[in-house]
Amino acid sequence: MTIKAEIRQEWVMGDGPDKPDELVDFLYVNNRPLHWDTSLERAGQAEMVKDARGDVLVAGYGLGISQRILMDNPKVTSVVTVEKYKAVIDVCFKRDEDWHGGWVVMDIWDFLKDERYDRYYDTIIGDIWSGSIAADAGQYKRFRKAAARHLKPGGQILMGPRDV
Ligand SMILES: C[S@@+](CC[C@H](N)C(=O)[O-])C[C@H]1O[C@@H](n2cnc3c(N)ncnc32)[C@H](O)[C@@H]1O
Repeated sequence: MTIKAEIRQEWVMGDGPDKPDELVDFLYVNNRPLHWDTSLERAGQAEMVKDARGDVLVAGYGLGISQRILMDNPKVTSVVTVEKYKAVIDVCFKRDEDWHGGWVVMDIWDFLKDERYDRYYDTIIGDIWSGSIAADAGQYKRFRKAAARHLKPGGQILMGPRDV
């Protein structure tokens, strides 16, 4: 199946005088909105990655909001993202030329069990679920279990802003 990714700018309604309407980037994959760069989403991403440190593996690129925050964090020494769709990388890296970090195009579930990628991280971040298709507790549990063997001693797993 061909995957087409594009970024479209769209207005999002604000919520009162201190939260005006916003013109934001939406990431569309095959004409479906997958991620959006609203102030609410940025706050959620910042909350998710606030304790990140050391060598960081991120599952899912989206609009690279968390990657940008991680790259600016002095406690973080490296950032690598595993993203399933090359089309997402191609379209987003045009926008994020200076700060996307390293990347691998692969399904994270394959990556986590592939011995060629047996490296160890201080922080692993799982955020492959779009805001419109929130993960259930079973998926978070599955991710924690699969990612655990890639942690350095004392390492941590941080999950998406919609963790349950
Ligand atoms: C919610 S977005 C990630 C948001 C990102 N943390 C940010 O700050 O912009 C989810 C991303 O995960 C990707 N994705 C979904 N399933 C995946 C999988 N199985 N393996 C790797 N990436 C996946 C999607 O293509 C999408 O780019």
